[in-house]
Order: sequence, then C-alpha cells, then structure tokens
Amino acid sequence: MGKLYVNPKKKLSTISPEIYGHFSEHLGRCIYEGLYVGENSSIPNTNGMRTDVVEALKKIKIPVLRWPGGCFADEYHWKDGIGPKESRKKMINTHWGGVVEDNSFGTHEFMELCRQLGCKVYINGNLGSGTVQEMSEWIEYLTFNGISPMADLRSKNGREEPWTVEYFGVGNENWGCGGCMTPEHYANEYRRYQTYVRNYNHDKPIYKIACGANVDDYNWTEQVMRIAGPFMNGISLHYYVHPLGWQEKGSATDFDDTIWYLTLNKALKMDELITRHSHIIDKYDPDKRVGLIVDEWGAWYTVEPGTNPGFLYQQNTIRDALVAGITLNIFNKHSDRVRMANLAQMVNVLQSVILTEGDKMILTPTYHVFDMYKEHQGATLLDSYIETSTIGVEEENMVPNLHESVSMKEDGTITITLNNLSNTESYPINSIFADTIISSVEGTILTGNMHDYNTFQNPNVVSPVSFTQFTANDNCIDFTIPPCSIIQLTITTK
Ligand code: AHR
Repeated sequence: MGKLYVNPKKKLSTISPEIYGHFSEHLGRCIYEGLYVGENSSIPNTNGMRTDVVEALKKIKIPVLRWPGGCFADEYHWKDGIGPKESRKKMINTHWGGVVEDNSFGTHEFMELCRQLGCKVYINGNLGSGTVQEMSEWIEYLTFNGISPMADLRSKNGREEPWTVEYFGVGNENWGCGGCMTPEHYANEYRRYQTYVRNYNHDKPIYKIACGANVDDYNWTEQVMRIAGPFMNGISLHYYVHPLGWQEKGSATDFDDTIWYLTLNKALKMDELITRHSHIIDKYDPDKRVGLIVDEWGAWYTVEPGTNPGFLYQQNTIRDALVAGITLNIFNKHSDRVRMANLAQMVNVLQSVILTEGDKMILTPTYHVFDMYKEHQGATLLDSYIETSTIGVEEENMVPNLHESVSMKEDGTITITLNNLSNTESYPINSIFADTIISSVEGTILTGNMHDYNTFQNPNVVSPVSFTQFTANDNCIDFTIPPCSIIQLTITTK
C-alpha cells in the first residue's frame, strides 16, 4: 500500500495564485476566433470577446494573462493596435503562419479581456525590434494618470482612466526569436529598457520581468542575474515537453507506452530545472526577492494533420492532463521561488485548456486539471511525502508511479492533488495526517484510457466526476487510485 504522509502543522510557502496563470499570443487561432471574434460576429460575445470561452475561463479562476507573445512580442508595435479599427495597420505575422494580422485586437481589447476575466495583466514588451521610447510610451499610455501625450492619446481613443498593469516583461526569448543576443548583451539592454518602465502609480509598482533561460541554459541565468539582478523583480524560464525532440516532436494523440512514459519523464524534468536555476538565483538573491516566472510551459507536439503548421494547433489527451498535474504539483512545491507560471497557450494552440471550432467550444483534459487544482491558489503548501515505486518501459525514462502536492487554505481546508502516472496499474493509497482528526472528505477524479480526449462530436469523454470510494477514519484516508488518473481531495479537520 502506498503511503501518503501529510503534516498539516508544517506550513511551507504560499502558493501564489499566479502559478495558475495563462498565456495568449497572436498565434494561429488563439486570439482571433479563440478569444476574440469581434463585436459584429454571430458568435455570442461581449465587446468582441467570446462569451462561452470567457465564462469557461472564469470558472477556473484565471489569475493572470500574458500577452501579446511569445515571439510575436518582439515584433509587436503597440501603436499599430490602437485607434479606429478600420485604420489600424495590417501586417504580416512572420513568426506564425505568415498570415495577415489586422491589429483589431490591441491594447484596449486585451485590457477589456482581462477585465471580463477578472484577472491580472501581464504585458510582454518589445525589446528585440522596438525602441526604448516605444516601450516607455506604452507604459505611459497604459498607466499614467494626468496630462501627457500618451495619456491624451489614450483618452482620445476612448479610455480616460489609466489601467493597472501588474506585470511587464522586458523582451521575450531574447536568446532566440527576440534578437539572438548573448546573456551579457541582453542583461545590459534589460538594464537600459527597464529604466524607462516607469512606475507612475506608486501604490501599485509594476513587477518587471527579465527574459530568462531556454530550458537548461544555466549560464544565461548566471549572467543575467549577475549583471541585472538588482533591476528586476522576476526572471523567466521557458520549458516545453517535446516527447520525440524539438524537430519531430511526436503526435498529440497517437503514442505508445514508451512515449507515454517518455513524455511524463520529460514533464518531471521541470523539477530539476527549477531547482538548478533557483540555486543560481539564490547566489545573487538569497532573500528570495526575485521570482522565477515560468511564463511558457506545456506539451508541444506535431500539429494536427491537415492544419497550418504555423498555427501550432494540437489535441489534448489524458496524457496532457498528467503533464499539467505533475507540473502544477512541482510549481506548488517550489512556490518559495516560483511566483508565476503561464501555460502555453490558452485557446487553440499548444497545451490549450479550450479548443474552438466556429461557434463550438470544448474543454480539454488540461482544463479540468486547472479546475481541480484551483483551490491551491493562494493556499499554503504543506509538508507532504508519498512512497513511490519506479515504473516505465525504458531504463532511462522511468518515472515514479505517484506524484502529489498538498496545501491548506486560510480556513484550514486541505487540498490534495494526486496523480497516478501508470497507464495500466491502480494503487491502494493510505494517507496519514499527523496530529489531525479528519472531519469530512470530498473528492473529484479525472481518469480514462491513455489516448482519451474530447472532440467536438464527443466533448465529455474526459471529464471529472465525483470520487467517493474512500474510507476516512481518525487521521487516515484510504482509497485506490486507478491508472491514468488525477484525484483531488478536499479535507476538513476537527
Ligand atoms: O508558445 C510558442 C512559442 O514558443 C512562443 O512564441 C515562444 O516564446 C516560444 O519559443
């Protein structure tokens, strides 16, 4: 019997709600069609935003949304996306499919989307091909309350009041699509650009995020922290799970046992990456002032057959639910340093929580994981440990059979999220709570066969159901977790 030990008396770090953040880029059908259909669309919308999608996203409590990229950010010139829509510049989206970007979704529309979602704002500025002046004027346009050229322009465009911008990224992937820079060069550019990201609202200073490393480029983190550490609030990290590698990637729906375990093994690598990058950050920031911001993560497969390769549209199976479940558990456990994370990408792109087709919408298995994990947002991580055995097909791609994290909310309610990584075996679990008497338990389970996914014809193949097959006595809860499963338990104590 696998034992899960929870110590409710040992409270660790606060799980920042922003760890459950999302990312929306001008890429494929994420913004256009997925989130924004325009005011004149026959698809029900509020100020152009799809009502069905916004309502579904509100249910999972989106804490923060990153925009406009990604690689798109370092080619985006924000002034192209303001003013009367008919006179906005039409341009080529060179990164993503070479399609026409008509700029009908710009600053005002993004801020309206965040208003409807009730989430914080994370804007990624253009350092790669933009100027310091352009970045500084965007901040003025967004946040300055008073008389100034940009505040005047904003009010001419219909918005008198400034907005609040909580997070601002100074460039994206500047080691690659954001300008192919060396870390030393970027760090110096970062220092210059961030100087002009002014805090016009002293009560709500902008949290400035420096471009961080690609996967395991530890030298990038070292150099950027050394040169620019004192000038930032956060540094990013990007890591995608490509089962077969960057070139071939692998199918989202067609995979065998070996690739199942290989994918989960790669998802687990997030733990090592955070640990090693954090060690470097600790050297320059022992007080943990600087947050590690994993602002792009998720599974990235070969595009669905017959779709535009530049649109990165992929399906989402129960395997993705486990990639999400494992990764979010890892973020919870590193919440002393990880302050925000943004799944790539919200709708119709990589590991999306929602897929749309015309006026239809489906929720993916990953959506349901975010729903089941939402009680962790703002809760306190508890000390927990689970006994595991090692499973898999290939020696070098083994994984633990079980993976967990546990938190406590302010009212004392405990949330356990437990994953079974096996695609064949179920495991009996004996959870033991130190010095605690259990009062009530409620559960939810997401499970299925390893290839299961939701389609527009069958939208509920993978959906969560209530989980009641447990026994609770004194300080123990016993149950069996089926293969390919995620269980969430909500526990109150006496
Ligand atoms: O999410 C897709 C792309 O992946 C982003 O635009 C870029 O930042 C990363 O390489």
